[in-house]
Formats: sequence, structure tokens, C-alpha cells
Amino acid sequence: MAIKLAVFLSGNGTTLQNIIDRCAAGELDASVVCVVSSREKAYGLERARAAGIPAIAVPRKGFNDAEAFGRAIWSAIQEYAPDLVALAGFMSLLPVPEAYAGRIMNVHPALIPAFSGKGMYGENVYQAVLDYGVKVTGVTVHFVNDEYDRGPVIAQTSVPILEDDTVEKLAARVQEEERKLYPKAIQLFAEGRLKIEGRHVRVLP
Ligand code: GAR
Repeated sequence: MAIKLAVFLSGNGTTLQNIIDRCAAGELDASVVCVVSSREKAYGLERARAAGIPAIAVPRKGFNDAEAFGRAIWSAIQEYAPDLVALAGFMSLLPVPEAYAGRIMNVHPALIPAFSGKGMYGENVYQAVLDYGVKVTGVTVHFVNDEYDRGPVIAQTSVPILEDDTVEKLAARVQEEERKLYPKAIQLFAEGRLKIEGRHVRVLP
């Protein structure tokens, strides 16, 4: 049976679009039941509406702290009763209520724990990778806990850095891998094959 997916975003929503397209293609045993944005003008909300999915803006700037922001979001999605929440370029820290422990995923455009944590999102990540001079970066899908990018890792893919790389070129190659890895991890969850044991996530056969 298809799982119900809530997608949280803050920006363009290419990650959301990929998930919507994979669901429509029957490659992902899921359906997106609602989309929440922490920014009112995020283009991802338009993508959701175009696909006939309820699109809800909960602007982060309307709240004094992460707790109040979190409460507003969790109560906004309650009626959709998602099985899994997929963060897709969601740029705010979100307190994880007990009821959602182990049911929130994120995709990060680097190999966590490298180039991750507060402030490490979007272009900042690729710039930091190029500035540091590492030879390999990649994509991480992980479960979300109360700390930025620190929940148990589900899957990773590496992406080599090339001699003439720029932020744009590297971002394109990393995002191509994101578009493959994130749906795979969500599908494993849908099949009930991800088991969290402390910091480790076991993939059941
Ligand atoms: C994605 O590349 C995602 O990995 C990154 O934001 C982008 C969202 O793009 N997430 C982070 O950096 C999280 N720390 P989108 O709005 O087009 O889906």
C-alpha cells in the first residue's frame, strides 16, 4: 500500500518535483498528501498546487522560536496524517515531536558529517567543498533529529570533484545523484525495510 508523504521545503522545489514525478511514474510507492513551506513565496508551493496537492505556507519569520514554529507546522499537517515527512530543501531547524521520531527524512548535498550543520545549505555547501579542496563529495539521506544534519544516515552516494569545477557544475552533478538516492531511500521506508538501531540504520532484505 502506498505511503502518505508530507514534503517540507523552503525554495525552488526541484526535489519535490522529482518525488511527484516518481510517484506518478509508479516508481515510488507513495503519494504526496501535502506540501509545507517555511517561505510564503517559495516556488515549491506553486509546483504543489500545479500537481493538485494542498500547499501550506507557515512562514518561519512569523514565530519567535523554533518550538512555536514547529507546533504550527505539526498542527497544520495533522489532518493529512502522513506516514513520512520528507524535507526537501527545508532551511529551518524543526523540533521533532515524539510521534514523528524515525519518520522524518532529509537529503543533504554533501557527505555528512562533512560540510553539514547550521548554515550549510544550497550553494554554501558547494562553495565550502570547493574552498576546502576535497576530492570527493556526495549526497546523504538521513533521518532527522533535533540537531541540524545529525540524525542516523540511511544512504550516501559519492561524487568526485573535477579539476575545472564550479559551484554550478558541481551542484548539477550532486543534484543528479540526489534525484536518484532520495526516492530510493523513501521507497525503502515505504517497504518497511529501514530499521533504526541507535546511530545506525539497517536496510532489511
Ligand atoms: C537540495 O539540493 C537539497 O539537497 C538542499 O537544498 C536543495 C533544495 O533544492 N538541502 C540542503 O542544503 C539541506 N541542508 P530544491 O528547493 O530545488 O528542492
